[in-house]
Amino acid sequence: MTYVAPAPSIGTEDEEPGDPRGAVRRRHDEAGPHPTPSDVHVPAPGGPIRLSVVVPTRNEAENIPLLLSRLGPALRPLDAEIIVVDDSDDETPAVLARHAADARVAVRLLHRPPGARHGGLGGAVVLGARHARGEWVLVMDADLQHPPESAAMLAGIAMRHDVDVVVGTRYAGEGSNEGLDGAAREATSSWATRVTKSLFPRRLSTISDPMSGLFAFRRDAVDLDRVNPIGFKVLLELLVRHPAARVAEVAYEMAPRHAGRSKASLREGLTFLRHLSRLRSQRLVGQMRERPAAARDRLRELVRMIAFGLVGLSGMVVNTAALWFFYEAVSLHHLLGAALATQLSTSWNFALVEALIYRRNRHGSLAGRAARFFLLNNLLLLLRLPVLQALVWAGVGILTANALTLVALFLVRFLVNDRVIYTSGSTGRRDPVRMLVNLDTPEAAAAPSRKRYQYLKYRYDVAGVVTIGSQIMLPELEFFRAGWVADSDVDIAVRVSDVGGRGPRRRAAMTEYAHQSVLRYEEHLGRLGANFRIQLGSPIDIQVGPLLARSPHVVYTNIVEALLRFVLVSRGHMLLHSACISLNGVGVMLSALTDTGKTATVLRLLRDHGGLFLSDDMTLISPDGVAMCFPKPLTISAHTLRAVQAQDLTPAEWRRLQFQSRLHSKGGRSLALTLSKFNVPIMGINAITQRLVPPPKYSVDRLVPCRIGTSTRVEELFIIERGTPRIGELGQAETLERMIQNTDDAYGFPPFRYLAPAITIGDQGYAQLREREREILTDFLSHVRSRVVASDRFGWADEIPRLLREERGDLPVIQPQVVLPAWPQWNGALAPTGVRA
Ligand code: GDD
Ligand code: MN
Repeated sequence: MTYVAPAPSIGTEDEEPGDPRGAVRRRHDEAGPHPTPSDVHVPAPGGPIRLSVVVPTRNEAENIPLLLSRLGPALRPLDAEIIVVDDSDDETPAVLARHAADARVAVRLLHRPPGARHGGLGGAVVLGARHARGEWVLVMDADLQHPPESAAMLAGIAMRHDVDVVVGTRYAGEGSNEGLDGAAREATSSWATRVTKSLFPRRLSTISDPMSGLFAFRRDAVDLDRVNPIGFKVLLELLVRHPAARVAEVAYEMAPRHAGRSKASLREGLTFLRHLSRLRSQRLVGQMRERPAAARDRLRELVRMIAFGLVGLSGMVVNTAALWFFYEAVSLHHLLGAALATQLSTSWNFALVEALIYRRNRHGSLAGRAARFFLLNNLLLLLRLPVLQALVWAGVGILTANALTLVALFLVRFLVNDRVIYTSGSTGRRDPVRMLVNLDTPEAAAAPSRKRYQYLKYRYDVAGVVTIGSQIMLPELEFFRAGWVADSDVDIAVRVSDVGGRGPRRRAAMTEYAHQSVLRYEEHLGRLGANFRIQLGSPIDIQVGPLLARSPHVVYTNIVEALLRFVLVSRGHMLLHSACISLNGVGVMLSALTDTGKTATVLRLLRDHGGLFLSDDMTLISPDGVAMCFPKPLTISAHTLRAVQAQDLTPAEWRRLQFQSRLHSKGGRSLALTLSKFNVPIMGINAITQRLVPPPKYSVDRLVPCRIGTSTRVEELFIIERGTPRIGELGQAETLERMIQNTDDAYGFPPFRYLAPAITIGDQGYAQLREREREILTDFLSHVRSRVVASDRFGWADEIPRLLREERGDLPVIQPQVVLPAWPQWNGALAPTGVRA
């Protein structure tokens, strides 16, 4: 048989080395008599397969016809194939052959004869996935408990989002598990879920239904050689073995079984327990072996060990005193006395360890950590008691014997605490934000709050292409303020409203309603948090909570600009991360990674050579090579300003700038990015920070005397870099990739990543919009000469004019007399109105 070569996988770097017995078993198993999948139905050739639907079956003959006829239409838009992995003893294969054509998509069958049914349901799923031809694998049951329409929708959502695993959940949002037969089964299922989650508190923290049988995963994000599930819980195995996989959930309603009987049995229950204990113990071994790699971290570990030893020493005093009390004063049996003394000293130690040693590594709940701490010490107590007895028999005094057993287990106690209970778990961290998509029940439309007025006080007309109306002032768009825009013409509306639930929540969540194009982002603080809700219609309706309403920079940068970007794309323009000026009539564009010195270069070029300013951060471009101005206020640093010596700032502004620029620098940004990987209300923190210390933003003509140009034909693109001085020509393809990457970087801050994939404008989804954006950029670049200019002394503002002068004749050194046409100038006419003589 042929195996799909395992693709490089992500998120397994901190994994325990594979269980060698498992590996042997697998190898033996693979050599076994597995059939290659046989084609049951081959449809007329279409495009390449993107999705493989793996359906495990065991005696499901009665369910196959309905399954195929409902799955067929649902899968049609997804370029799918169906792989049935069958362990049946009934006529399932024959029925499948008879009805396969109903599915319209390719249907393949892997029938495992008795004796080759390794791993049961789990083994079947892994085998099916090995044969998957699609980039995505969807796993679902055959008994219609997973409604085929919901399953297909889940796959569609998965393929759209930037995630690795998508879990169909019955326990979040609008999901339900009513399809499980009987209250007993429902209760077992939800209890099993709770117990399992508490065994893997970090790896399953954001997942509400780790036992689900309905899920999808990206084929190359999963290392199938690493997953070796026994029994029913394939998803659990997958999630535990891939700690860094990015997970989203889709809430669906589980239906009752259509026909036939469930294969869940007491035996499956026992298999599940075996599976769970194997997973847990392998993980434990893995954790115990996670030795810090860096010398500095090993030193820290040593310091913790000494501290732990000191706490333990104090605990031993407590323990000995207690044992003396129980044994001598109360005259209890010495073993009972030792057991009771251990409970006291454990409480003592726990309090100290929590408060003194691991203050910064406390994960999960206090009760959870306490439970683990006590469990460990009591397990060790079981080991200690026989040794204690033996020592007593050997004539050692009871207090001394007790102390000896305590000391002997010190290292174990420390390692389990340090690497398991209080591990910093820095490797392979899951996204802290929960992503949930609701399939079925629509959200009740939020009635406009009567507390607040609805009027959009501030109107903006962005280059005649997109209009925005807002209840809060958006300083970034000040240049585009347009009182003439009618309320009914607004493309994007920003209103202040109460968004999200009242109470606090344990983590931030992005919730989507698939049918309604509604998405809602909520953070920990309930209504006080940085919440927002977007309804993607026309107009696009953005509601921001009161905290965000006070931080217009955050609203603009993190929400409005992201949407504006894609509305622009749908209308044939792109917001490109770059600066643009017009020098002597030549459109010059600059691009750089953050904090290279782009802004300073722009300012110096304008100061030394005049010219028109169009943009510093984002430029509005169109396919014909024309750039239109997008003059947001410039974010500057003190060092940028020194480069141009802005005379116009007051001493107070200067002083503030030192502080502001430190906070809003690359360092500040990357600190925030790091923070955003933890479970903190990052947008709220951002909003409050920006409220307290606003970013240093100044309009360009406060910094250098200049004029703003409406549009220009861009002829030169310079990508500026720090490094050994050089000038290099850049090919179209490479420029394209760099500019796209650079623009993506500009949108790297959360929650963009969670919100973007849900964006649809008109009938174009996120992927199509991205594709369109790429085309616009490709066309634009075909009109532009691109070069890299590297400098090690911020010399770009000298190099670029030198190049232009050499190639195009003299550049004026003073401001040319520019006559700008009457403003506003947007009539849909995009012809350059620069100063070309
Ligand atoms: N190939 C194969 N081999 N398929 C099997 C086997 C097996 O040994 N055992 C069961 N199946 C198939 C069934 O034919 C069905 O399509 C699917 O796996 C689920 O089996 P059910 O018997 O219907 O299981 P369930 O409804 O009790 O459990 C479902 O829900 C659980 C959550 O409550 C499954 O999806 C579980 O994976 C899930 O954990
Ligand atoms: Mn079932």
